[in-house]
Amino acid sequence: PPLVRILSLADMEEVARKVLSHKAEAYYASGADDQITLTENARAFSRFFFHPRVMRPVGKCDPSTTILGFKSSIPVFVSGAALAKLGHPLGEINIVKGAATTSIIQMVSSNASASPAEIIAAAESSQPLFFQLYKNTNDSVAEKRVREIEKLGYKAIFLTVDAVIPGNRENDAKSPWVVEDLERGSVKLYVEGEGPEDGDNVFGTAGGLVINDDRDMTWEKTIPWLRSLTKLPIVIKGIQCVEDAVLAAQAGVDGILLSNHGGRQLDYSLPPMEVLYQLRKQRPDVFDKLEVYIDGGVRRGTDVLKALCLGATAVGMGRAFLYAQSAYGEAGVVKCIRILEREIITAMRGLGAATVKDLKPEMAS
Ligand code: FNR
Repeated sequence: PPLVRILSLADMEEVARKVLSHKAEAYYASGADDQITLTENARAFSRFFFHPRVMRPVGKCDPSTTILGFKSSIPVFVSGAALAKLGHPLGEINIVKGAATTSIIQMVSSNASASPAEIIAAAESSQPLFFQLYKNTNDSVAEKRVREIEKLGYKAIFLTVDAVIPGNRENDAKSPWVVEDLERGSVKLYVEGEGPEDGDNVFGTAGGLVINDDRDMTWEKTIPWLRSLTKLPIVIKGIQCVEDAVLAAQAGVDGILLSNHGGRQLDYSLPPMEVLYQLRKQRPDVFDKLEVYIDGGVRRGTDVLKALCLGATAVGMGRAFLYAQSAYGEAGVVKCIRILEREIITAMRGLGAATVKDLKPEMAS
């Protein structure tokens, strides 16, 4: 269908699922085990309701915000998701260009199918980009990576901590290795029959991607190590409970992304929206120490606003951008953000909020 017929992110996903190869769909859509967390991430938003305020001036409505001090036209960013070229030949370049047009921030995956240099080369000169880091087991390899991305001009590091092992994604593992021989970016992609564990590949695509990732990271060792290497803001991606959010604040990082990797890692990990609710209830002080974001299952402007009411600075989205660029390339990414922007403004007006600062905890429960 023409892009004007796409009214929601659900419409966009429907088109993407028709055009994606079997392998790409299996890789993008899959979650761990019985996919309970995958499903509940989205459903969790439906358990929260608004307490809208009326008689408040909302004629002028501004959904913009800042994330780590960088401007964003809406409180939404692209969460780093691997292998965008599985869905479209231009892959991550579609996303970086769409993000430029609409002034939102893209977090680039360590396992992107274009290199960090290629992606930043496609950005506008003033466009901020964040980098998602999978820390290599070998400290000197990891150090080289961090220094490279700082030098390239990335503005923050999101250290992923919820993927020390590849999740058990059976739909992905059932379909063969990445069969397209994609242009090699930062990731080595195997063609069928060449995988490192060929014949015994229970981990599908992810099994090939996380093979060198550090399984022994700790608060005491890893955060000071990373801090000593870079002046960039550090955000921990993959916090899944209140206790770890508190430890992150004590470790002095700049932000936390409450996330269970889109339900792809540990099944039955609590949906991030629920973790956010618990954090707001139990430790509201954490929100004063760092920025809190969530991702997982966000599909509507109202989802975004529920998270913001409870104290999130912004929300990330992974699959929605993969699907949008797979279906319509760069134009799909722009459309995806325009849909969200319209939904966010409509819902802010309904809620009685003219700016994101007007969104308060008492407005959603
Ligand atoms: C991811 N995610 C992810 N996270 C990360 O830190 N590094 C990565 O390389 C990837 N790769 C990746 C690939 C695919 C296909 C998906 C769907 C996800 C997780 C991602 O950053 C984010 O946490 C989730 O996608 C959020 O959930 P939604 O928005 O997809 O529901």
